[in-house]
Amino acid sequence: MERRNESGAGGASRSVHEPVLAAEVVRFLGADSPNELEGWIVDGTLGAGGHSRALLAALPRVQLLGLDQDPEILAHARENLAPFGRRVQVRRARFSQLGAALDAVGARRVVGILLDIGASSLQLDSAGRGFSFHADGPLDMRMDPERERTAADIVNGWDESDLADLFFYEGGETRSRKIARAIVESRRRAPFQRTLALADVIERAVGGGGKTHPATRVFQALRRAVNEEGDELLAGLAAAEEWLVDGGRLAVISFHSGEDAEVKRFFAQGASEGRWDVLTRKPVTAGREELLRNRRSRSALLRVGARIRRAQPVRGGGA
Ligand SMILES: C[S@@+](CC[C@H](N)C(=O)[O-])C[C@H]1O[C@@H](n2cnc3c(N)ncnc32)[C@H](O)[C@@H]1O
Repeated sequence: MERRNESGAGGASRSVHEPVLAAEVVRFLGADSPNELEGWIVDGTLGAGGHSRALLAALPRVQLLGLDQDPEILAHARENLAPFGRRVQVRRARFSQLGAALDAVGARRVVGILLDIGASSLQLDSAGRGFSFHADGPLDMRMDPERERTAADIVNGWDESDLADLFFYEGGETRSRKIARAIVESRRRAPFQRTLALADVIERAVGGGGKTHPATRVFQALRRAVNEEGDELLAGLAAAEEWLVDGGRLAVISFHSGEDAEVKRFFAQGASEGRWDVLTRKPVTAGREELLRNRRSRSALLRVGARIRRAQPVRGGGA
């Protein structure tokens, strides 16, 4: 899926369902034997199914379990992957439920896992989902509608200092204190309910005129908190370590420097303890051609590791 620059929905370019770094993902997950590779690949972030389609086309003997926490997204993915018939299973699940989803389809030999972290353009482009500071919508931002806490709950309920920390640490917003103060002053008059009202208060607090909208980092921080993206990433990495067979590969595409640092740390620690072979010393980024075709790919960072198991694969065996 083409990436949106965080919550830049409604911006100049319309979304194209083009997966980021797809050729690289296929090359790494296909290992050295795309035609012979057998077993299950898990696409933990199915989105509209762009990466899954590329993987299924290039690796003729694998089966694919596609997961997404967003039921609306799953409908698109099912349609896009229908031509692959029984080679594909689609389930609604979060990374933290990856093991249960594998059990549910009876998958054992997991040879590859892909996590393409973040929101999809289908979500960012839909004003009603509340991710956009360009198009008015409810201040929601839940990818999984069964989550209880919305962005409005955070904006209206958290202390000023907690909001400032959130914007700084999860969004990299250096004017976080000023913005948090403006939010708290404004919500005394009326609680925030809509995305544009929040974007407006942020713009008044810090001014416009930069390359990106002044609300970009705050919206990113709120999205990460609402969807507990940090904890989910850790759960996804742990599940990959538990489920991949010896030599099985984990590919993670992140869009946020904090996430990339987390993935780097995870692989480095695993490598120092003999559990992972790191296949990308530096993150793989989009080449010139992809950057020209898909400007959102400019922020994508891909890291890949191969699982090392000294003993027999714990969950290895038949597919
Ligand atoms: C960037 S999009 C993936 C696009 C996809 N690779 C494609 O080619 O179309 C990320 C997707 O992952 C889902 N997602 C994000 N975090 C998740 C999590 N913790 N568990 C399950 N799905 C998640 C989102 O709902 C979104 O649909």
